[in-house]
Amino acid sequence: MKPSVILYRSLPDDLLARLESHFTVTRVNDLSPATVAAHADAFASAEGLLGSSENVDQALLDKMPRLRATSTISVGYDNFDVEALSARHIALMHTPTVLTETVADTLMALVLSSARRVVEVAERVKKGEWTQGIGPDWFGIDVHHKTMGIVGMGRIGLALAQRAHFGFGMPILYNARRHHQEAEARFNARYCDLDTLLAESDFVCIVLPLTSETFHLFDAAKLAKMKPSAVLINAGRGPVVDENALIDALKQGKIHAAGLDVFEQEPLPVSSPLLSLPNVVALPHIGSATHETRYAMAACAVDNLIDALNGKVDNNCVNPQAVK
Ligand code: DGY
Repeated sequence: MKPSVILYRSLPDDLLARLESHFTVTRVNDLSPATVAAHADAFASAEGLLGSSENVDQALLDKMPRLRATSTISVGYDNFDVEALSARHIALMHTPTVLTETVADTLMALVLSSARRVVEVAERVKKGEWTQGIGPDWFGIDVHHKTMGIVGMGRIGLALAQRAHFGFGMPILYNARRHHQEAEARFNARYCDLDTLLAESDFVCIVLPLTSETFHLFDAAKLAKMKPSAVLINAGRGPVVDENALIDALKQGKIHAAGLDVFEQEPLPVSSPLLSLPNVVALPHIGSATHETRYAMAACAVDNLIDALNGKVDNNCVNPQAVK
């Protein structure tokens, strides 16, 4: 008999067929208590779980006594209780490699659109405001040859450094848990402590995961260390930045602008003050959202679940040491 799995995100037809060739699949819309209650038998017998953007916590695990592997269609896994999974030797699989270049493209898009006010001035054109040669009130700031500060030098940070160094001639500063020899050798990136990076960078790009250590790492005190002419870019996780402190810093001109793909609450409430600030570019968490990359992530997640339920956790597993 094929193992049972719960699928809580839609998949392209060919990937669904692949999943169904290995497992008996129950498809659900979400992992809410109501959904779990409505499919109690399926959750109780499931050995695998596949999807994204839902919380997987102790309460859910209590309803899934046979669970052996979870597979998320994302690189980030801050919505999983990794400790609870590991305590039960349940594998957590993710997609760390296939989205790197696409997310780095998104970061560069945020840098360029914040600096050159692309969204704001394009809107002005659509409103019919371009009626004569433009003056300084339409101007932006340069990106090329400015200093790029990258906070978090993982795969995505490295891909961003490559773009900034070769494409835009930008000196690179970075802060990370450890020195990154490749970034230093290939892109002449200079390691520095976070305060130095904040004081010297023209663009501060956050590419950090959300952990207890990074929660609100960018608070009022840290934002105050940035240059008033500098731009903050966040495509890591929203709660790494204290959003109220950021709003104050933007309103008071303590920093020049912000380009944000992630927020403390997603979707971003329409009442958020961020949406009324002209110097904010707000994107709907599109970091990896291209057709090609979202397909590659879903394919990777399907393969990850097949591997994990066959006892293979040497690739893309967050907690291999906990899996027996
Ligand atoms: C991820 O995979 O964690 C990204 O945030 C998706 O864009």
